[in-house]
Amino acid sequence: MIPNHPDSNPTAAPCVMVIFGATGDLTKRKLLPAICNLAQDNLLPEQFAIVGFATNDYTTESFRKMLGEEIPKYAPAPVDLKFWKGIAERIYYVRGDFQDTQAYQRLKEQIEQADKLHNTLGNRFFYLAVAPRFFSPIAKKLGECGLTKEENGRWARVIVEKPFGHDLESARQLNHELRDVLTENQIYRIDHYLGKETVQNVMVFRFSNNIIEPLWNRNYVDHVQITAAETLGVEQRAAFYETAGATRDMIQSHVLQLTSLVAMEPPAAFDATAVRNEKIKVLQSIRPFTEENIRTDIVRGQYGPGSTPGNSSLLAGYRKEPGVAKESTTETFVALRLQIDNWRWAGVPFYLRTGKRLPSRVSEIAIQFRRAPHLVFRGQDLSGNTLVLNVQPDEGISISFHAKLPGQEMQLKTVTMDFSYQKEFGAGERSAYATLINDCMRGDATLFDRADGVEAAWALVNPILEWFASHKPKFPNYAAGAWGPREADELMERDGRHWRKP
Ligand code: BG6
Repeated sequence: MIPNHPDSNPTAAPCVMVIFGATGDLTKRKLLPAICNLAQDNLLPEQFAIVGFATNDYTTESFRKMLGEEIPKYAPAPVDLKFWKGIAERIYYVRGDFQDTQAYQRLKEQIEQADKLHNTLGNRFFYLAVAPRFFSPIAKKLGECGLTKEENGRWARVIVEKPFGHDLESARQLNHELRDVLTENQIYRIDHYLGKETVQNVMVFRFSNNIIEPLWNRNYVDHVQITAAETLGVEQRAAFYETAGATRDMIQSHVLQLTSLVAMEPPAAFDATAVRNEKIKVLQSIRPFTEENIRTDIVRGQYGPGSTPGNSSLLAGYRKEPGVAKESTTETFVALRLQIDNWRWAGVPFYLRTGKRLPSRVSEIAIQFRRAPHLVFRGQDLSGNTLVLNVQPDEGISISFHAKLPGQEMQLKTVTMDFSYQKEFGAGERSAYATLINDCMRGDATLFDRADGVEAAWALVNPILEWFASHKPKFPNYAAGAWGPREADELMERDGRHWRKP
């Protein structure tokens, strides 16, 4: 195998996975369940080991025991204990501070031991599941103790969790610091949305069906709506969320990723360079936000008390959530209108919205086509066709069209044609983390963000963040369980359009 070349074999090469911040939530909720998924799907190499590194006081034994007890409680889907046992035996733990040089020596010894014991051929990847302030100090220390060196066909990669930076300047700085130690090919910036089956399917749907692509442009599309709605509130994450808000947490990353996939030109190949080259062109074509269009094209919101459909109990407003400032101005909702200034999309608005404590959990992309140019069937109010790519939870695709109602009269009705992942493939939501970890182990960065991509997304949202910081909002302005503030509806109504009710 050529080092650093994506291997077409879905089973990854032998390697050690090193998890920084291994005692945190992500390990038990996502990372270890993802490893179990890979084992279940027969995608984990025999020659594999995990080394957890964190400040908490565990030994290898007690760490394995803790994970064994906690994973079944937190994993999104049941984990088959048969596979867990095989994985648990390959897990090791090193206690240490992320800034302590000595600790890295112990870590290095443990990795080398695991390498010998499990014959992992000197390959390794580091998963930084830590607070963002540790990303570059950890990379620096890894470099100093020689753990990032790639030689004699051995590879070393680093997965960096989101948020990647806090604004444009900090993202640039972080890229710069990481590249002091690593090459761009060694850096895997994760956005878990890209690992979702339905998100990958946006490209498959567009670029493998010849009947779709000819319609996918300003000649046929009236507008695009992208929604990423959650019913959950801020939960126990106020310390992070208070400094982030919906724009940083969701728009800069997941929602702009979806936008890029919908709007990109067909790549020459499905590989990291071609796909990411096309995606970044979309971000670069989005009309920049200025003081003027921020006022007209962006709405922010924060939830007050309320209740969600089907649950009459009163939910606390954001400002009453644990750890949130009494006068917090953090936005928990954003809706905005984008213009993409290129040949394909000129004049086609993209409406994006995301928020917490909305009426339902749904992420979807809706392509609203134009009405038929001439109405043959008089007296019938015919809207344009809508194509909905449902990212989650009812993963699937549906298209609406008009059909004749049976009977003597010429009466038309809007009906839908649906494709459901569950019905077709019998599969539930597959772990996005399993896909992405497996991709990293195979050296395939197609579904990870590149330095220029992450910076382009920050460049776009930076003026919005600055405007938010300098203009005090009137919060709260929507009740928990509502579809955001009234102004979000007005944003579309002014254009003679309305949000879909998912
Ligand atoms: C994370 C955000 O990146 O994505 C969270 O930090 C959000 O605030 C989550 O809840 C949504 O992911 P998913 O896969 O549940 O839609």
